[in-house]
Amino acid sequence: MWSLLLLLMSLIAVLKTEELIQGGKTHQTSEYEDGGVTYGSNRAIDGNLETCAHSLKQSNSWWNIDLLGLYEISEIIIYDVDHQHVDMTDSSIYIGNSTETNGLANSRCTKITNFNKGKKNTFKCDEGSMLGRYVTIYSKGNRVLILCEVWINGTRKADPGLMLIKENKTWVDALSYCRTLNMHLAYISDIEVQAKAAFESTQSNSPFVWLGLRYTCTLDFWFWINGHSLDYTNWSTHTEKECDMSAAMETTGDHLWYSKPDNETFNFFCTE
Ligand SMILES: *[C@@H]1O[C@H](CO)[C@@H](O)[C@H](O)[C@H]1NC(C)=O
Ligand SMILES: *[C@@H]1O[C@H](CO)[C@@H](O)[C@H](O)[C@H]1NC(C)=O
Ligand SMILES: *[C@@H]1O[C@H](CO)[C@@H](O)[C@H](O)[C@H]1NC(C)=O
Ligand SMILES: *[C@@H]1O[C@H](CO)[C@@H](O)[C@H](O)[C@H]1NC(C)=O
Ligand SMILES: *[C@@H]1O[C@H](CO)[C@@H](O)[C@H](O)[C@H]1NC(C)=O
Repeated sequence: MWSLLLLLMSLIAVLKTEELIQGGKTHQTSEYEDGGVTYGSNRAIDGNLETCAHSLKQSNSWWNIDLLGLYEISEIIIYDVDHQHVDMTDSSIYIGNSTETNGLANSRCTKITNFNKGKKNTFKCDEGSMLGRYVTIYSKGNRVLILCEVWINGTRKADPGLMLIKENKTWVDALSYCRTLNMHLAYISDIEVQAKAAFESTQSNSPFVWLGLRYTCTLDFWFWINGHSLDYTNWSTHTEKECDMSAAMETTGDHLWYSKPDNETFNFFCTE
């Protein structure tokens, strides 16, 4: 009876309606500057059609967004000014889970063959909706990439596990970063999650990644900040029991856990 109810509840959670995805972290190849204004990448998601992201004139410009979660993406809507330098033809949209080569290692959603300036252009992927965390718009040829507004329509998928945040933060800052996403710092419950984390950690750019595991020197024990008990561990021999220590997994080798002073800065995992 209870399991049926749980099943129904999880089905309802999965059937969340499609919506425009809010927020995310944007990047672009280069930033055009003029009169003290930097035409940064986040101007394409600021909700203002008048402000545009604008790269320098160069070949193979790209703009991308990290949606900070896994989404099933059905449509990408692009608005651009009607301006002589705007040329989106032969650009492509890529979607996937990789940040390799700025998202170009992901699968191509579609190629833009037709673009109406001064209008909202809606693009769907050639193979139907696609699952991914990163969306990249790639402009081929030696030209500027201008994007006034980009909207992405999709459904949030429950993250099957861990989300790597490739930014160096102290343990406390990492903790609050995950909380702003309504997530927790990583919890590793068993060897399967450890294996997944070990694999994902190889994509990070720091020698360690923070885990949501903290040492309390007043009470003298390690604890998961989500309240779970410490049943599974994969400690290295380098574990000091000192105040202000948290656990971090090495991103190479055997991916063992080390105690680290919490003011060091590493990449980290958020988890749901
Ligand atoms: C992204 O990851 C999800 C979940 O692991 C997977 O289902 C999806 O196919 C991946 N997307 C791409 C484009 O590889
Ligand atoms: C998102 O896409 C769906 C399906 O194509 C559509 O019904 C819905 O109106 C779109 N939402 C927005 C806000 O564009
Ligand atoms: C520690 O993690 C590594 C990498 O995932 C794994 O190969 C090894 O079996 C783990 N050791 C234990 C004791 O779980
Ligand atoms: C994070 O720190 C490592 C050194 O520990 C450095 O190589 C890497 O570039 C830093 N990453 C970012 C995004 O600043
Ligand atoms: C961390 O704090 C300790 C003690 O206050 C200090 O000695 C150390 O230099 C700090 N490390 C970093 C990376 O800030």
